[in-house]
Amino acid sequence: MIPTLEWTEEGVKLLDQLRLPANVEYMLCRDYQDVARGIKDMIIRGAPAIGVAAAMGVALGVKRSQAKTRTELDPEFDRICATIAGTRPTAVNLFWAVERMRRAYLAAGDDMAQIKERLEREAKQVYAEDIAINQAMGRHGALLMPSEGRVLTHCNAGALATAGYGTALGVIRAAVEMGKRIEVFADETRPYLQGARLTAWELQQDGIPTTVITDNMAGHFLRNGGIRAVVVGADRIARNGDVANKVGTYSVAVLAKENNVPFYVAAPISTLDLTLATGELIPIEQRSPREVTHIKDVQITPEAIGVANPAFDVTPNRYVTAIITEHGVARAPYEESLPRLAGAPKGVGGAGGAD
Ligand code: MRU
Repeated sequence: MIPTLEWTEEGVKLLDQLRLPANVEYMLCRDYQDVARGIKDMIIRGAPAIGVAAAMGVALGVKRSQAKTRTELDPEFDRICATIAGTRPTAVNLFWAVERMRRAYLAAGDDMAQIKERLEREAKQVYAEDIAINQAMGRHGALLMPSEGRVLTHCNAGALATAGYGTALGVIRAAVEMGKRIEVFADETRPYLQGARLTAWELQQDGIPTTVITDNMAGHFLRNGGIRAVVVGADRIARNGDVANKVGTYSVAVLAKENNVPFYVAAPISTLDLTLATGELIPIEQRSPREVTHIKDVQITPEAIGVANPAFDVTPNRYVTAIITEHGVARAPYEESLPRLAGAPKGVGGAGGAD
């Protein structure tokens, strides 16, 4: 799999996900403003990838700074963090990463060269950890996948949404590596088509059989199509297990429950927001109407029609069969299992009614 993003001497390289699958091209971000634009414009997207890009953006901002002393750098550092944090509101990994970089900055001493080196090291560590976390999640989640049959996913929660391997698609990859014969049904995911363009592309590269369906076909296939499980990623999970993910996830979850199909969410601990009691408190990003009215440059709606474009929805915890993390698998009651899992050392088994 080609890298989603990369720290290089010239700057941060982001695989341009708006141009996939037709073109495999990188955007070179020479300063932190470029990284912020890349996140906002969805050149890079997916909660964990946004977190890694944010960490690299902060490190790049500090690296490029002309400040001579820490006192001079302090206000600039705050501006860098605020710009990166102001890009997208729902994926909590963004804020988690900025806070982690701030802690590294505070611990870095006064020497400018050392501060720059420390932040670069931290960003590279966030990147490397993300891949290891996804692989651990894959090992836990693969055990929940059927030994053969169809698994449905929504949006892209794969290598492209992370530093590598993926969350929901990491679970599928690990299951396939274990010898399970899985066929993926991928919702196309209007309006950005992450399923049709990105999930389909990366699974095809891995040789995992994949069928793309339009979002409104999910109910039909959950009822009649032999779907054995649903697995999706998440952008933010509240303390009670309510899950914010790409808009359309909620409908899939309700239809899965109606048809007795287990609905799994795969997300790293950094996607948990234990400060929020319920999903109602999760901020939902509203994006430009143009994403709905146009496909590329072609207008598909009448001129001046009203449009709504929430980028995410919240699935109440009662529809969630289990939440797969790098620390293990949490089940209801999530108020108990999630905090326990979040505090558990890496690699331990489960929490709550966990596997
Ligand atoms: O708007 P996007 O493309 O950033 O939304 C991505 C999703 O909703 C993913 O499903 C989610 O971030 C999980 S990614 C591992």
